[in-house]
Amino acid sequence: MPLSSSSTSSTKSIRRAASELERSDSITSQRFVGRRQSLIEDARKEREAAAAAAEAAEASEQIVFEEDDGKALLNLFFTLRTSKTPALSRTLKVFETFESKIRHLETRPCRKLKDCLESLEYFVRCEVHLSDVSTLISSIKRNADDVKTTKEVKFHWFPKRIADLDRCHHLVTKFDPDLDQDHPGYTDPAYRQRRKMIGDIAFRYRHGEPIPKVEYTAEEIGTWREVYSTLRDLYTTHACTEYLEAFHLLERHCGYSPDNIPQLEDVSRFLKERTGFLLRPVAGLLSARDFLASLAFRVFQCTQYIRHASSPMHSPEPDCVHELLGHVPMLADRTFAQFSQNLGLASLGASDEDIEKLSTLYWFTVEYGLCKQNGEVKAYGAGLLSSYGELVYSLSDEPETREFDPGAAAVQPYQDQTYQPVYFISESFSDAKEKFRTYVGGIKRPFSVRYDPYTSSIEVLDNPLKIQGGLEGVKDELKVLTDALSVLS
Ligand SMILES: [Fe+2]
Repeated sequence: MPLSSSSTSSTKSIRRAASELERSDSITSQRFVGRRQSLIEDARKEREAAAAAAEAAEASEQIVFEEDDGKALLNLFFTLRTSKTPALSRTLKVFETFESKIRHLETRPCRKLKDCLESLEYFVRCEVHLSDVSTLISSIKRNADDVKTTKEVKFHWFPKRIADLDRCHHLVTKFDPDLDQDHPGYTDPAYRQRRKMIGDIAFRYRHGEPIPKVEYTAEEIGTWREVYSTLRDLYTTHACTEYLEAFHLLERHCGYSPDNIPQLEDVSRFLKERTGFLLRPVAGLLSARDFLASLAFRVFQCTQYIRHASSPMHSPEPDCVHELLGHVPMLADRTFAQFSQNLGLASLGASDEDIEKLSTLYWFTVEYGLCKQNGEVKAYGAGLLSSYGELVYSLSDEPETREFDPGAAAVQPYQDQTYQPVYFISESFSDAKEKFRTYVGGIKRPFSVRYDPYTSSIEVLDNPLKIQGGLEGVKDELKVLTDALSVLS
């Protein structure tokens, strides 16, 4: 889990301390320069730092380590009491004493203890000689509290109820304008303050609440107008019919116009009536696992701030222009909405490797997908429909195009510095959905999941009784459909 943007000065000093130690595998130290809307890169980082998964909070006392040339890889969690200051430096000294190589160090909000040092829990992934493991842990215990090691995780935690999405908020903050020197807003403190203020809406948001409105400034509306006016003319010839149909409805009913940035609450209500999708505000680029999990509930996590005025046609991170012009119209289509939800359902409890593949699939479909319509090729991907340059390029004679094949798209190298090297063309959304269904059959999980729309919850089908219950529901549905057929005939 990345550090949140609300990290304290203490957190920064911890980062500095950690950077003095050799680390080869820390997601906090790696610099990623690129388009940054990529779930794939994000998923890869998560896979590489697998031990930092959410299950860590449920760690047991069992010591788990991996042997490698006489070395153990150890995941440790601990808290520090304020009364033990400077407990952190003393604790870190223990690792040094044992010549332990710290490969990852991070802090996270402490759930259990309110009076520990600044309410933080520390997570350290380190390499230590096998014979030193128990002594190292004993020494850590003398300096820190609640020392735990991770238990073996059979599969990743995932949300079962829609309200659990309140826990799916892990951000990749290193791409935001506070930390990224290449961000157009990095040298503009007023922009950073404004972005933080809007981001705080998402941090405070809880499922079921109305999404607070943002009063956009004249400058922000000017940025929106420039992109909107440029792209709108292109949609007629380049966007698929499903997109165009929804876009016109959004202009009629949801405040889509060059002079108004639509409010997420209004758009969410519109989508709910069309396909059952809901929007919820998010403060930035979300982790791939959390983002995909939200789709399983027909929830789209949506940024509310807008890109920097100096760069209206490009944003290094997701913003409301990308979400509202790229994603929202497609989420109003029933077949596309089902395809999106299926992607989300396939991600629940999946391995890190499969999350990376699903993120790549998402990239080449939901973000950069093309489809055939009436003998022509049209765009349906949000990354295309919110980018003038790539939308024109993708439908020109220049790029390589291939027939959509989920197995190939899931491992296709992607491009994050410039336009995609290849685009996948689906015969139709139904065809893409069918092919994806076959692909999902190959994903190995010790259970299947089913979405219950009445309770907005996920049912884990891990025993015959649950499957029997599911079949009863299918029988009822079939009965309704066969009755309808007989009436028609
Ligand atoms: Fe996107």
